Amino acid sequence: MKFIERPQGGQKAVLVHLELPGSDFESDRREFEELARSAGAEIVAVIGGSRQRPDAGMFIGSGKADEVAAACAAGEAEVAIFNHELSPAQERNLERVLRCRVLSRAGLILDIFAKRARTHEGKLQVELAQLQHLATRLVRGWTHLERQQGGGIGLSGPGETQLELDRRLIKDRMAHLRRQLEDVKRHRALSRRARKRNETPLVSIVGYTNAGKSTLFNSMTGAEAYAADQLFATLDTTIRKLQLPADQEILLADTVGFIRDLPHDLVAAFRATLEEAREADLLLHVLDAADPERASRIEQVNAVLQEIEAEEVPTLLVFNKIDLSEHETARVERDEAGRPKRVFLSARTGEGLDALREVLSELIFPDLFEGEMAVTPAQGKLRALLYASHAVQAERIDDKGVSHLQLRLPRPRYERICREAGVPLNGAAAARPLESWERGRTRAGRSTTGVRD
Ligand code: GTP
Repeated sequence: MKFIERPQGGQKAVLVHLELPGSDFESDRREFEELARSAGAEIVAVIGGSRQRPDAGMFIGSGKADEVAAACAAGEAEVAIFNHELSPAQERNLERVLRCRVLSRAGLILDIFAKRARTHEGKLQVELAQLQHLATRLVRGWTHLERQQGGGIGLSGPGETQLELDRRLIKDRMAHLRRQLEDVKRHRALSRRARKRNETPLVSIVGYTNAGKSTLFNSMTGAEAYAADQLFATLDTTIRKLQLPADQEILLADTVGFIRDLPHDLVAAFRATLEEAREADLLLHVLDAADPERASRIEQVNAVLQEIEAEEVPTLLVFNKIDLSEHETARVERDEAGRPKRVFLSARTGEGLDALREVLSELIFPDLFEGEMAVTPAQGKLRALLYASHAVQAERIDDKGVSHLQLRLPRPRYERICREAGVPLNGAAAARPLESWERGRTRAGRSTTGVRD
């Protein structure tokens, strides 16, 4: 049973978004509307305006409050959603004037998270964050009541009993949730240690909400992580094994979407989910290439990465959704040292996914053996081992019956196979390393586009 009753979707809502000094009014408004829709709101009006600083009592001035109240009445709105942080007192004062429920930006995001969380841990975290949010409101409500009643006689009335009961219930429930979360965390730490022992590299997909992380995750791994055109479709980390070219194995993790001004309760609550990103060997920072705000989104994601102490992890930028733009093509851009920095692709059409796999391979397993090897008919075991390791890119048999294999595999595996087959590393079976990874790819005649598992 859920402790918190969640509002049903499809509620009529009036949105309030004021321009304050330093805010990016237009893009913030668009994102706010998307957030509200993601929460299931049916927007009946959007009220704008500007202020130098918030009003202490209601955040907005009384004239603006009348305007919002009129819009709420005209649109029969059940809720007024503010794209701002409201103090508990401001919320209460507004509810009195607007005569409908009032939700702050933090409350709105909490609500979306509550609707979307799917795993046990995600649900626990969201409920804890919601209770934290609620608890401050109840506590303040209580002191407010105390002041109203002069702090003396009448304090043991039914209102107080109910409040005390609510507070105790919330406190108990929060303690229970924290204990459960501790258990989940212990589990997580254990599996993380097992993974470390296993030495399987971890690549975490991070990015602004709706950038296409789950879609990329699904098309890379063939998994069915939830992908929907809604903000925060994914609220829990999902991890899958992924096979790279040359039979290398990595773990790919999909993570919760980032967003500007994530409520603080949530940053704390989702730390465990995002910890995966901090532990990663590489971050795939996915962004919507067609998004006009993409530059500021990158900054916002970087700010959160810094907050969760993941800014040191090497990052590859993935410009997704190139199918939406006429000018973009699937490609890999490198820095001056030749290191891949940006990959342009479409997770939906699969264009560029192969190039991403190869770049992952290059970044995570830089010590790759690429070259040609001559294998005589007597060295059948060697040939079989190489094939079993998916290391053979191409094979040509000459008129003497010698196989010329074009190989591509992690160097340690190459050395192990040679040992197993009893072949000296640079001996009888002559291996000739290629000059560069890029050339190896071209020579193998592999397409970098349009391939999907
Ligand atoms: P959150 O869970 O909110 O963090 O979102 P996400 O980043 O996981 O995004 P998701 O994969 O759910 O995709 C969001 C929307 O973008 C969905 O409607 C996808 O179908 C769409 N989308 C993802 N990748 C592409 C792409 O390459 N091209 C196009 N045109 N749409 C895409």
